Formats: sequence, C-alpha cells, structure tokens
Amino acid sequence: MKALGISTSPRLKGNSDLLLRRALEGAESAGAQTEYIRLADLDIAPCNECNNCCKAGDCTLEDDYQPLIEKILNADLLIFATPIFFMTVCSQAKILIDRCQCFWVRKYVLKKPLPESLPPHRRAMVIAVGATKGKKMFDSVRLTMKYFLNALDITPAANLFVNQIDDLGQIQKHPTALDEAFRLAQNIADPNNPPPQKTIDIELTHKETQK
Ligand SMILES: Cc1cc2nc3c(=O)[nH]c(=O)nc-3n(C[C@H](O)[C@H](O)[C@H](O)COP(=O)(O)O)c2cc1C
Repeated sequence: MKALGISTSPRLKGNSDLLLRRALEGAESAGAQTEYIRLADLDIAPCNECNNCCKAGDCTLEDDYQPLIEKILNADLLIFATPIFFMTVCSQAKILIDRCQCFWVRKYVLKKPLPESLPPHRRAMVIAVGATKGKKMFDSVRLTMKYFLNALDITPAANLFVNQIDDLGQIQKHPTALDEAFRLAQNIADPNNPPPQKTIDIELTHKETQK
C-alpha cells in the first residue's frame, strides 16, 4: 500500500499540514509506504483553458503537474489536506484540481478509461481546517473533492474536517483532531479493509476556541 500525502496549505506546518503528517503516521502504522509532498514546493500553473485535453485527454501544459499526477494515480491512498479559504479549498489546491480537468474529459467526453495497470481500489482521505464554525463551512470542499476524486476514479473513503482552528499550530491544542487523523488514516490504509461504500465523514467541532 502506497500512501501519498499532499499538503496544499501555503503555511509551513500549518494546521492542515500537521493533521496530514499525523495521518501519514497512521497510514504507516498500518504498513503503508508513505510519501509527503508540499504543493508550495512545486511549480504548477493554473489551467489556461486551452482545451488541448479535449483531443487526447492529457494536459499539455508542462510543469511539475506531470510527475505529481503520476504519483497521485499510482497511490493506493491519497491524503489531501487543505485549509478553508473563502469557504472552499485554498487556491493552491484548486490549481492542481483544475489541471485535472483532462481526467474529466477522458472519462466523460472521450470515454477513455484509465490504464488497468493502476492500483485497484484507490482511495482518498480529505482533511480540511477552518477558523470559523457553521453548518455549511465544509460543503464546498465536500463537493469539489467529490468531483475531483470521481474524475480520477478514486474512492472518497474519508473526510476529516475541523473547525474553529486558526492560528499557526493551533491544531496541536485540539483535544482529538490529531488522534482522529491518525486513526482514520490507519483504518483506510489497512489493505484488509476495502474502501468504505459510503464516505466516512467526520466533522470535529470544538466549542471553545483553543487560543
Ligand atoms: C485567504 C484566507 C481565507 C480564509 N477563509 C476562511 C473561511 O472562509 N472560513 C474559515 O473558517 N476560515 C478561513 N480562513 C482561516 C483558515 O482556514 C485557518 O486559519 C486555517 O487554520 C488555516 O489552515 P492552515 O494552517 O492549514 O493553512 C481563511 C484564511 C485565509 C488566509
């Protein structure tokens, strides 16, 4: 089992990043071989809507996207972490997601399946952290990630969303979030467990701000 963690926060050791690192430890404890990638270290341009992908289903803009997407496609478990920015994924995450439009084109326009050589039962865990609270604050992330993962034929196995976390490193004071990240990733990285039929959706609310 290969577990790939993608940290999209522009903040080094930000809250979503710390949760991701803990989740990777959880996956490792289940026997997974893990890799951590920080998007801020890569050079990935936004989709320029050239629509070249409509011809063969491949993105023709060349940058760090190509090696990254190879890793994403070949991971058994993708753990994708984002802060909430204006009620959705951060722009760094969205740039990567938009570049995957070619997979949507492949699947729904060209009807060109992904290579059979890719690992079966590819699954993902999504981590998101935001400062405020509110019933709808993770709705947009849920939707965007659902459609992103669907384009890549990755099963959305688990979501871990944490609200009322703002300052750098504040997640470390949360009573359960880091343990939950470890436990969830450990559970879905277990090769004996097939990806769950329904996405495990955990939203942690903590009444007092942890400042
Ligand atoms: C540009 C920007 C937009 C933000 N928008 C929201 C928002 O819409 N809702 C929210 O709850 N928090 C918002 N926040 C707060 C972050 O989600 C919060 O600080 C989070 O802990 C950052 O995670 P990170 O440390 O992993 O980057 C925003 C922060 C920034 C910098």
